[in-house]
Amino acid sequence: MTDHVAISTAERVTTLTIARPDKKNAITQDMYAAMADAIIAYDADDEARAFVITGEGDMFTAGNDLQDFSTGDGDGDEVAPVARFLNAIRDCEKPIIAAVNGPAIGVGLTMLLHCDLVYAGRSATFTAPFVKLGLVPEAASSLLLPAAVGMAIANDILLAGRTLDAEEALDFGLVARLFADDELQGSVAEIARGIAESAPNALKASKRLIRNRRAAVIEQMTAESELFVGQLKSTDFSESIAAMMEKRKPVYS
Ligand code: COA
Repeated sequence: MTDHVAISTAERVTTLTIARPDKKNAITQDMYAAMADAIIAYDADDEARAFVITGEGDMFTAGNDLQDFSTGDGDGDEVAPVARFLNAIRDCEKPIIAAVNGPAIGVGLTMLLHCDLVYAGRSATFTAPFVKLGLVPEAASSLLLPAAVGMAIANDILLAGRTLDAEEALDFGLVARLFADDELQGSVAEIARGIAESAPNALKASKRLIRNRRAAVIEQMTAESELFVGQLKSTDFSESIAAMMEKRKPVYS
């Protein structure tokens, strides 16, 4: 159970708010579990027609909690909460909308690749610091990000650690529309209500057509997660985290 994921429903729109502002909305395994449950419940509920993900305050999310990465060494065959969340957002058959209200880091960026409509406030930024942390991309971002923004920009983000500002994210096609920060939530709520009033089966069928590369996405996620778990146990990762905590440059052997 966690208090750091808030779920509300109005006019057939479910809104999930990542709500841990004192830690920049960094996501723990408990939070991933709550986020997975919310998406699965939305997908199963015929009354629910649109789902919005946003963050509390001026941050979308600082990504995975740096102290709470899953190494995959869970109990027996149990799927780690982060994997349950990524599978849920990947497999959801109904529209998912992101309202990116500030910096989106790590999984904050990669989850957007599984959202159907991505809108952002003008102060949003987009970063995927996996290599900086000694890790590899996840959530099929090594496949979906090049498909979304092109190989050159994807490599700039994934390998060179480039942060995109909101205008760049719009130009590169990572985001559909930008709004003034104080108009983002209202504008997205209006769009979500429009989606909620649309023909539900047509939306589902359209989403299925648009996301018809699902097998390749699953295959890429499997390959990524094997490497990701391996890197979590590596000196690349331990040195990167130690250097970050000690505010020094990492020294890799
Ligand atoms: N995991 C855990 N805690 C985090 C966090 C994360 N990913 N990101 C931020 N926090 C915590 C900080 O430890 C700090 O906690 P404290 O007040 O108890 O010391 C608090 O959030 C505020 O962060 P701070 O770094 O002081 O704020 P800032 O405005 O200077 O910088 C960020 C904000 C998000 C740019 C910076 O915190 C950051 O780079 N975080 C790491 C992002 C990251 O690498 N995520 C992993 C992606 S795979």
